[in-house]
Amino acid sequence: MKEIGGYFELSNVGVLPYYRESVELNLGRSCLKYIIRFKNIKKLYIPYYICDVVTKAVQEERCEIEFYHINNNLLPSFNKKLADGEWLYIVNYFGQVDNETIRLFKDKYKSIIVDNAQAFFTEPEKNVDTIYTCRKFFGVPDGAYLITDQIEDSVLPRDKSANRISHILGRLENTASEYFQLYQENEEALQNVPLRMISLLTKTLLGNLDYKQIKERREKNFSYLHKNLDPINCLKVKEVPGPYMYPLLLKNGGEDLKKTLIKENIYVPTLWPNILKLCKVDSFEWKLTKNLACIPCDQRYDFKEMDIIIKTIKKYNGGLLR
Ligand SMILES: Cc1ncc(COP(=O)(O)O)c(C=O)c1O
Repeated sequence: MKEIGGYFELSNVGVLPYYRESVELNLGRSCLKYIIRFKNIKKLYIPYYICDVVTKAVQEERCEIEFYHINNNLLPSFNKKLADGEWLYIVNYFGQVDNETIRLFKDKYKSIIVDNAQAFFTEPEKNVDTIYTCRKFFGVPDGAYLITDQIEDSVLPRDKSANRISHILGRLENTASEYFQLYQENEEALQNVPLRMISLLTKTLLGNLDYKQIKERREKNFSYLHKNLDPINCLKVKEVPGPYMYPLLLKNGGEDLKKTLIKENIYVPTLWPNILKLCKVDSFEWKLTKNLACIPCDQRYDFKEMDIIIKTIKKYNGGLLR
């Protein structure tokens, strides 16, 4: 029997997803599983430069994989013909792949999936299956949006996140390092989470965010970093809507720069260690994995923190110029 009255839960009255016309799922990898399963994809071309959870998701759906390389502009070096049931998976790295380019790929290949995990604020291109995941942009334990024309009638079970949120609540009132292990355990636990609808908890948290402010703050920080770091950046980077992080590729010493930043409590992730096993030492993907510093520019920070980062990088970089 339905419970009525009593103490309050977290309010979820009137919460709406950022992407209104989406299938709301629990994880980015679930979005991919959903498309593979319901569009009956037999083979997927995916980039070498990708997180291994994506590869694993494809394997779990028993879909064949062929890897391709990306070029210096972070675009697919791909020229094959797609047979029936074959699809091309394009990752929008750091939001640097604009929709005009996506349209060209769509026109040429028809069967494409765009991964906007690093481009939450980039609107989907029309008629293109597009994946968004929320953990990389906001303090939520999971959550993802899939834009697709493939709407399934069968009801998927809804995920639950209450026992995966301690690190997010903990970091709010304490330090990141105290909760880092719990964060890692949460990421590990997600490996065994099946395709589900978004949890009510994550949906509620997402429904209470100020997206306009978040997007603007990210853009201002990114722009500030860009003005200061472009002269030493070997990647040609442009300003994009509500960016994920600022990708800084030095000609030399990127790996040491990352260590220096981390020593100064500026946390920069390595995307993605598994690639060192997959790619040759002289490949672009190897170089990115070793040397690309992904600089935080998110809504928690303003120019004060950006100045600390820039100063640390310039001090490290010394006279090293491109
Ligand atoms: C580029 C990219 N796409 C997709 C995913 C999968 O997202 P999720 O962890 O929400 O399944 C990741 C995860 O790290 C990613 O980096």
